[in-house]
Amino acid sequence: MEIRKVGVVGCGLMGSGIAQVSAMAGYTTVVREVSQALLDKGLGAIEKSLAKLVEKGTLSSEQKSQTAARLKPTLRLEEFADCDLVIEAIIENLERKKELFGELDRIVKPDAIFASNTSSLSITEVMTATERAPRFLGLHFFNPVPLMKLVELVKTVVTDPAAVQAALDFARKLGKTPILTSDRAGFIVNRLLVPYLLDAIRMLEEGFGTIEDIDQGMKLGCNHPMGPFTLLDFVGIDTTYYIAEILFNEYREKRFAPPPLLKRMVLAGMYGRKTGKGFYDYSDPKSPQPNRLLT
Ligand code: CAA
Repeated sequence: MEIRKVGVVGCGLMGSGIAQVSAMAGYTTVVREVSQALLDKGLGAIEKSLAKLVEKGTLSSEQKSQTAARLKPTLRLEEFADCDLVIEAIIENLERKKELFGELDRIVKPDAIFASNTSSLSITEVMTATERAPRFLGLHFFNPVPLMKLVELVKTVVTDPAAVQAALDFARKLGKTPILTSDRAGFIVNRLLVPYLLDAIRMLEEGFGTIEDIDQGMKLGCNHPMGPFTLLDFVGIDTTYYIAEILFNEYREKRFAPPPLLKRMVLAGMYGRKTGKGFYDYSDPKSPQPNRLLT
């Protein structure tokens, strides 16, 4: 199961990062979006990230142009036919993912490995849309993909150990550190991270401290790079709400239940950095201010 050619479906925040690190590691990488506008946006993000890495000396200008040359942008799923590994990074919607994998299963060569970058949906459930259960697994990357070292490799009860090994080798070749986990909601990281983030919101609601002080507490007291509210805005208020719902549905435990404030913020369109307002107000992106409407 040697991986030479990689396909990435979706060129949004995660897909563009995954395509970038795959091409940087030397793989010919086909990346597909549903429209030219979305493809151009994703490629623009890759270009910006590569330029930043050159500026910081992580990448040479030559490596940057080689990386760009290995990227094969497309609007057509048919381009994935001879890929050895196809990684899906589209919207977190079970039906959409199943529909996509059903289609890919008919197009891509039967011995190729399929991986989903889902952070919360069941890999086993997505897998049922294909006829290649032994070669189906989860490869969960972290945001921002070019900087974050971790990849969670999620195996189901039927994943072939040879596919797991090929995916572990692939992740290591990207310069990432893979950790192995089983298909349970949240995997390892979100199972621990999301209840912590939800607790920070409850603490705010209960008056333990301000947004800034709770953030400072975890930054300066535990050396976290971001406090919980900065991280909530970074991950996305909508995404966190969505993951919490999935965790709550799986485990039926109160600690995974989304707090009322989280739901209200989603309804109000306060999704965090991406909409300019979350627990912080990003009107001046260089100096985010706590969102006073919330306290
Ligand atoms: N590509 C290249 N360079 C990038 C980049 C990218 N995608 N994103 C940021 N950088 C650069 C910045 O431009 C910056 O460069 P300069 O030093 O020249 O300004 C440098 O990296 C450092 O970034 P920042 O100055 O913004 O500040 P930082 O030191 O805080 O680093 C960070 C940023 C790596 C994101 C750090 O804050 C961090 O590790 N935060 C925690 C992130 C985290 O927890 N991610 C996981 C979220 S959970 C998840 O993803 C899973 C899920 O399913 C929800």
